[in-house]
Amino acid sequence: MLRKSIIVGIVVFVILVVVAIIAFITLEVCCKPNNCEIPPIHKNAPLYARFYPAEFVYPNHDHNLILEKGESITVGCPGSKLNIGVISIEVTCISSTLFSILGNNSDITSLYCEDKVKSIARYTNKLCENDGQEIEVGFELNKTQFLRQIRICFNVSSLNPLYSEHNLTRFIDNHDKSRRRPFFMEGSFYNLNKTEVYKLYNRINQRNTINQQLQIPNPNSTKVIKDGFSFYLSRGHLSPKADFFYGSQQNATFFYVNSAPQWGIINSKSWNNLEWRIRSFASKGNKNLQIFTGTFGNLVLNEYSSHQLYLYYNPPSEKIPIPEVFWKVVYEEIDQLGVAFIGTNNPFLNKTSLKLLCNDISKSVKWIEFNNKNITEGFTYACEVDDLRKTIKYIPQLHVNGILSK
Ligand SMILES: *[C@@H]1O[C@H](CO)[C@@H](O)[C@H](O)[C@H]1NC(C)=O
Ligand SMILES: *[C@@H]1O[C@H](CO)[C@@H](O)[C@H](O)[C@H]1NC(C)=O
Ligand SMILES: *[C@@H]1O[C@H](CO)[C@@H](O)[C@H](O)[C@H]1NC(C)=O
Ligand SMILES: *[C@@H]1O[C@H](CO)[C@@H](O)[C@H](O)[C@H]1NC(C)=O
Ligand SMILES: *[C@@H]1O[C@H](CO)[C@@H](O)[C@H](O)[C@H]1NC(C)=O
Ligand SMILES: *[C@@H]1O[C@H](CO)[C@@H](O)[C@H](O)[C@H]1NC(C)=O
Ligand SMILES: *[C@@H]1O[C@H](CO)[C@@H](O)[C@H](O)[C@H]1NC(C)=O
Ligand SMILES: *[C@@H]1O[C@H](CO)[C@@H](O)[C@H](O)[C@H]1NC(C)=O
Ligand SMILES: *[C@@H]1O[C@H](CO)[C@@H](O)[C@H](O)[C@H]1NC(C)=O
Repeated sequence: MLRKSIIVGIVVFVILVVVAIIAFITLEVCCKPNNCEIPPIHKNAPLYARFYPAEFVYPNHDHNLILEKGESITVGCPGSKLNIGVISIEVTCISSTLFSILGNNSDITSLYCEDKVKSIARYTNKLCENDGQEIEVGFELNKTQFLRQIRICFNVSSLNPLYSEHNLTRFIDNHDKSRRRPFFMEGSFYNLNKTEVYKLYNRINQRNTINQQLQIPNPNSTKVIKDGFSFYLSRGHLSPKADFFYGSQQNATFFYVNSAPQWGIINSKSWNNLEWRIRSFASKGNKNLQIFTGTFGNLVLNEYSSHQLYLYYNPPSEKIPIPEVFWKVVYEEIDQLGVAFIGTNNPFLNKTSLKLLCNDISKSVKWIEFNNKNITEGFTYACEVDDLRKTIKYIPQLHVNGILSK
């Protein structure tokens, strides 16, 4: 009997301790009465930002945005309107989901956008590397406040992005997982004698264009541009959709100026693998990363012809070059550490004709792992940023103190 009640006593004690710990953690982490919480991902959700400097605000490892009492945040629906009639507004935390909104104490969860938030892409009228024109993609909160998401350096004469730049948040793991993709947008950047870019990507058209350049007599030959989802030119995102937190940011990556023709099989295999590993590194390593993704060279398929390949071919006019490689520079600003990655863009390549652009240091980058067994799916490798810049001169002049190796 005595032993039984001791056991019961211990069990009750353990349960009480566990309950107390859980209660403590819950109160500390989520529900401090002085904190506010905003569930940021829902249908017709607004964007959340702070200004000076302008930046998006993301939830920390919890799923909600947490603000302290008295703290303010800007809520906005660029391209649409909040359901209280304005495009954007600054609100201040009172407690829980209660905020001071236009002088009233209101529940923040009652705010939504009347329509989808819309991004824009526009020239900044600044030059970037090699006389490229700078383009920014983001959200216009009002005439003076632009929330920039992507910066692009664009070659206006060849209609080719040299690179795009974006920031990857360490909180990326909780990003909006919606899989719906919008159509790509041209903006005002392409003026191809009424030929729209989406038509250039149409399978029959790209087959025609490429076969013509390769001097394959039958324009419908499926030798190079095949049927199926491997051997054709896909719209290769530079700044990838899944590197962004909010659905409206993800949709903002669908501008043609943020893409270049990439072979489908490479896009979905080696390049996709690289992108996933970088996100996982940011998230698990708790690192905010600055990322530059670019194109280089002009693909030639020597078996057929020495002609450099373009997606738009209207001799003598040739535009939208098919890159020979895609590259990425991943930079951690705080410690000034960086690493460059290069991926081939030629599924017909073989080991003998593969030439590296710089000294491969993949082995010393602990967090990356390439599956390079099948070079048809794209060959990827890593280099020091300064080393790759000897070949790709327009890689921005970041100050790199060492290799981002772990
Ligand atoms: C603030 O509250 C007043 C009184 O309830 C109401 O008339 C007004 O429409 C409210 N304003 C907003 C922006 O909700
Ligand atoms: C833009 O919005 C900010 C607050 O979000 C405000 O301070 C600024 O005055 C607004 N500018 C214009 C031109 O409306
Ligand atoms: C931009 O494109 C033109 C051809 O249209 C080319 O001559 C020039 O080298 C390109 N610049 C860069 C930096 O690629
Ligand atoms: C990324 O963040 C850095 C500051 O860390 C900023 O200078 C840069 O403009 C940001 N890039 C973009 C595209 O927003
Ligand atoms: C993104 O685009 C898709 C496809 O058009 C759409 O269904 C979705 O609602 C958009 N997301 C946001 C947050 O605007
Ligand atoms: C558009 O057509 C005109 C006249 O035929 C030609 O001179 C020009 O090069 C063409 N532009 C492009 C991008 O093909
Ligand atoms: C190529 O295919 C198109 C329809 O897809 C057809 O109209 C055309 O005649 C074909 N050309 C040749 C040379 O077979
Ligand atoms: C590799 O590719 C080159 C150039 O395309 C070609 O000349 C060579 O025959 C290929 N070698 C093998 C082993 O397939
Ligand atoms: C390489 O990958 C392609 C496409 O996934 C596949 O068809 C081919 O069999 C693979 N080659 C080898 C040697 O595994």
